Amino acid sequence: MSYDTIEANRSSGTFADHDELWLFGYGSLIYKAGFEYSERQPATIEGWVRRFWQGSHDHRGTPESPGRVVTLVEAPGETCFGMAYRITPAHFEYLDHREKNGYLRFAQPMAFEDGQVERGLVYIATPENAAWLGEASIDAIARQIAASTGPSGPNRDYALALAHALRDHGAQDRHVFAVADRVRELIAAEG
Ligand code: SIN
Repeated sequence: MSYDTIEANRSSGTFADHDELWLFGYGSLIYKAGFEYSERQPATIEGWVRRFWQGSHDHRGTPESPGRVVTLVEAPGETCFGMAYRITPAHFEYLDHREKNGYLRFAQPMAFEDGQVERGLVYIATPENAAWLGEASIDAIARQIAASTGPSGPNRDYALALAHALRDHGAQDRHVFAVADRVRELIAAEG
């Protein structure tokens, strides 16, 4: 698969036949929508965890020095907190472009705080994509994040904003918090 998933998402047509749908955001989409939406609600999805295992060659790094951003990894029994947005297929052009570095549109059930469950859209970068970096130690991930920057800004801002947004919502995420804590230590050591 190429780095650019725009064409794959467009031709898959996932959710293109809907008038409205829920989009589940679990990374930058939690703290920065970047588009108009009719409704926004905290939500969770079952069987997935958030991991800094996806390379960012276009937003928080460069092709020569990729950053690390989050994707979802299957983990039976686990629950992942995120933010759901009520959108229409008119949003796909913006979203496919924003998530073009390896993320594909998937349909997943998401649960809302009132107990309602609905199938919605989630962008996930799977291990088969060319920008996948995979597992590494918390220290190695944090060092790569602290050192990377790209057209959307420093990778450290992404990681710290995500951890801050999750804490603000009272969400638990040991992986994200451990990476963010280590990034903060590395920044402090820069003096
Ligand atoms: C998301 O936020 O749902 C996808 C990953 C990202 O853009 O950070």
